[in-house]
Amino acid sequence: MPAPIIKVDAISKSFGAFKVLDGLSMQVMPGEKLALIGPSGSGKTTILRILMTLEKIDGGHIQVDGEQLYHMERNGQLQPADERHLAKMRQKIGMVFQLFNLFPHKCVMDNVTLAPMLTKGLARTAAEKRAMELLDMVGLADKAKAMPAQLSGGQKQRVAIARALALSPKIMLFDEVTSALDPELVEEVLNVMRKLAAETDMTMLLVTHEMGFAHDFADRVLFFDRGRIVEEGKPDEIFRHPKQERTQSFLKKIIAAGHRV
Ligand SMILES: Nc1ncnc2c1ncn2[C@@H]1O[C@H](COP(=O)(O)OP(=O)(O)OP(=O)(O)O)[C@@H](O)[C@H]1O
Ligand SMILES: [Mg+2]
Repeated sequence: MPAPIIKVDAISKSFGAFKVLDGLSMQVMPGEKLALIGPSGSGKTTILRILMTLEKIDGGHIQVDGEQLYHMERNGQLQPADERHLAKMRQKIGMVFQLFNLFPHKCVMDNVTLAPMLTKGLARTAAEKRAMELLDMVGLADKAKAMPAQLSGGQKQRVAIARALALSPKIMLFDEVTSALDPELVEEVLNVMRKLAAETDMTMLLVTHEMGFAHDFADRVLFFDRGRIVEEGKPDEIFRHPKQERTQSFLKKIIAAGHRV
């Protein structure tokens, strides 16, 4: 039995007086495809941002790839991690956001090569070679010189995926990456994610309202409510036979809103 690649142990997180996560624990196995679902405000984005080291935690521990994320061991004692440790750990994880967050004044190629050149010290030729492979993988090899403003939403999102992959992360986090897209552009982005799931052994965590996609894609589904995991299981268990009343009423609402489950 391999060790979990992510181990979240009793973490808490507050924004002001509001406790978003309260003793959350979860584990993710290497290569696992996980879907995080749940109502608005339940803490799904917060947990991804914490894993990406974009938010600090107030309590608890997180292990990523065998190492503490927010702590460092010194003389056998755990201490808060310094920026250098965080920067090292951050390279293990890539994140794609709802609103792409591309650098608007840089062409597609520069968007994909910037981080590997700056953080990994990759030479431009090597970074560009890898970027072309990734752009080819997401179907955008012909857009390398385009500026973000010249791309459709679906194309921007595929560049954002290529950019996150350029650092060769072991773990990829996707936060509602299709929810800002026109309906006809959703499928091209989902197809890239299907391809990643099929062709790589990356660990993938996906927050989504696309329940049909979550059902097909995920090995396991976590249902979040008020900062806690209320129910988890295989997609068929969660979507077809939810046990908890809160999961049942959430799925009813989603279906009533016209989503395929
Ligand atoms: N930077 C912040 N400052 C203050 N409150 C925040 C901040 N980020 C998130 N919150 C609050 O934390 C709670 C959880 O937010 P989070 O974004 O994690 O929810 P979510 O499950 O991703 O919701 P959604 O489905 O709407 O994206 C919400 O009540 C939100 O208002
Ligand atoms: Mg969110």
